[in-house]
Amino acid sequence: MRPIIVKGNLVSLGVLIREDLKHAWVWYNDRDVRRYLSFSEEIFFYEDELEWYEALRREKKHEKVFAIIENSSRSLVGLIGLHRIDYHNGRAELGYFLAKEYWGHGYASEAVKLALEYAFDWLNLRKVYAHVFETNIASIRVLEKNGFKLAGRWRKHQYVPGEGFVDVLMYERFRA
Ligand SMILES: CC(C)(COP(=O)(O)OP(=O)(O)OC[C@H]1O[C@@H](n2cnc3c(N)ncnc32)[C@H](O)[C@@H]1OP(=O)(O)O)[C@@H](O)C(=O)NCCC(=O)NCCS
Repeated sequence: MRPIIVKGNLVSLGVLIREDLKHAWVWYNDRDVRRYLSFSEEIFFYEDELEWYEALRREKKHEKVFAIIENSSRSLVGLIGLHRIDYHNGRAELGYFLAKEYWGHGYASEAVKLALEYAFDWLNLRKVYAHVFETNIASIRVLEKNGFKLAGRWRKHQYVPGEGFVDVLMYERFRA
């Protein structure tokens, strides 16, 4: 049984286990998922995933990555992480993705809510921030529904295949 760290209604955040990597590896290479992530052109080998997992275990003070678990089926549906955790300044960067077949069910919105709960209540951070490309409407909606505010933008900063250069939006959410 996988330990659950933060429980929600539709999804929960659980401990990432080695068996998750074979799913994450496929999704991480899916161009529709990749398009709005950094290094969209990149191709990942399974060994890269294993190395990433080992590094994550070693660096766990500054990186917390969770498995997003669908409550009804107990299946892995995506990953969500708090990165660059900076305890001195009380902040971390949020990132997430879901497998395509699970899009559109409100899962990311709830996963972000749960990750914020973990960041504010358990890590005692004061601020979580995220970078999102201006054409990633679903992700912008997920952030805004969770109380993130637009803090600034880098203009025509990121090349998105099929879309050209787009603005990168900086979103931030302070602890209430
Ligand atoms: C972004 C992503 C995580 C969203 O996951 P999801 O579980 O489908 O999101 P949710 O269902 O919780 O919410 C999506 C919201 O965006 C809305 N939305 C989705 N596509 C939209 C579109 N093209 N135009 C307008 N709104 C849209 C949905 O209606 C929903 O809003 P609502 O709850 O008000 O109806 C998922 O699409 C994904 O993994 N994308 C690839 C990776 C990625 O972009 N990660 C984030 C990088 S910043």
